[in-house]
Amino acid sequence: MTGNMTSRVPDLDIDPFDPAFLEDPFAAHPRLRDAGAVMFLPAIGCFAMARHAQVQDALKDFATFVSGRGVGLADFLKETPWRPPSLLLEADPPMHDRTRGLMNRVASLSSLRTVMPEWQAKADALAAQLVGRGAFDAVPALAEAFPLSVFPDLIGLRQDGRENLIPYATVAFNAFGPRNALLAETMEAARNATEWVAQSCRREMLLDGGWGMKVFEAADRGECTHDEAERLVRSFLTAGVDTTVNGIATLVHAFAAFPEEWQRLRAAPGLVKKAVEESLRWGGPVQTFFRTTSRDVAIAGHDIPEGAKVLLFLAAANRDPRKWTDPDRFDITRQTSGHVGFGFGIHQCLGQMVARMEAEAVANALLKHVSEIRPAGPLRRRLNNTLHAVGELPIELLPA
Ligand code: HEM
Repeated sequence: MTGNMTSRVPDLDIDPFDPAFLEDPFAAHPRLRDAGAVMFLPAIGCFAMARHAQVQDALKDFATFVSGRGVGLADFLKETPWRPPSLLLEADPPMHDRTRGLMNRVASLSSLRTVMPEWQAKADALAAQLVGRGAFDAVPALAEAFPLSVFPDLIGLRQDGRENLIPYATVAFNAFGPRNALLAETMEAARNATEWVAQSCRREMLLDGGWGMKVFEAADRGECTHDEAERLVRSFLTAGVDTTVNGIATLVHAFAAFPEEWQRLRAAPGLVKKAVEESLRWGGPVQTFFRTTSRDVAIAGHDIPEGAKVLLFLAAANRDPRKWTDPDRFDITRQTSGHVGFGFGIHQCLGQMVARMEAEAVANALLKHVSEIRPAGPLRRRLNNTLHAVGELPIELLPA
């Protein structure tokens, strides 16, 4: 604490879980960023940060802004979590060092390189099937269809019941917010999905060679217990599907909304990786995560007490004009390094290579088959307390 050098944090009258906010969070972000480096949101009784510098610093300072008390609104010291906490996302060092090290070895780049040709062939076949067929909804037909055709096989899930993956993830991401109507509705709809996911994480349900079984093999070597292995497999199922579905929907939406960027990419296909990264900065499929302060801390001259929940607006940081030029523009040649779309620091997304490879496979497939990506109606959002999810994306793909 720096005593009288610090001052009270300003209040801001915004509810970040109100349906109108969730519909278009980007409209409210300027007010959040301009309110100060840190603010208090009385609507949810939490502190918040929305500027890039402070969000990135807080993510870096994992000892002060801890994850073990939950990365949602609920403080696990005071409330029982809705499910046993994640051993990665909702864990701090030293536990996190051990689980993350193990999972990094499972989710390796070399095992992804092996599957890439098959993923590309599947994406190519999907694009060939969708091009020239008139208007269609790209959410089920592309953004959901592609990840569901590759990711469950990567983990080694059985065939039946895979339709439970998205409803389960929807609940999990809603559960980081307050116990609002969104959470209640999706929880009710996903009751069977929660049970299916719990069963699917069991060793006897996993196929040999998949990432799920590799976690159990790490347990056999003594790197974690078999109970922990089940919960670590659950992390793949929670975090690995709805995120990439919305990542791909966001990428396609970006090209439909900025047709000149699609043409630039066609002229320079080598920019695919940059385009994918820029879509994550621009579109923010994962909007927010919370931390809890482990001590009194002063941020830019403002006091935050120990035990406070702090909401970090990742997507607002990714469009902070203090960091980015013309931040609302989707620009595939932008230098995106430092974006926090995958988080930052020790909790930075474990599956970022998976997410990138899926999106790149889709973009490459579209480049092969498509000359224009045309909007064919208004985009509709599927409100979620954490994800900026796309509910409906009517488009038309014109043949190359
Ligand atoms: C576009 C897709 C994705 C986005 C935008 C995304 C975003 C994020 C973000 C922002 C975090 C940081 C959370 C925090 O700091 O509290 C994170 C962590 C995590 N992500 Fe992703 N993610 C994506 C895809 C995936 C995939 C495909 C997987 C699994 C294969 C995955 C697994 C995880 C896990 C396990 C963590 C927790 C890591 C830890 O705490 O050490 N994610 N992700």
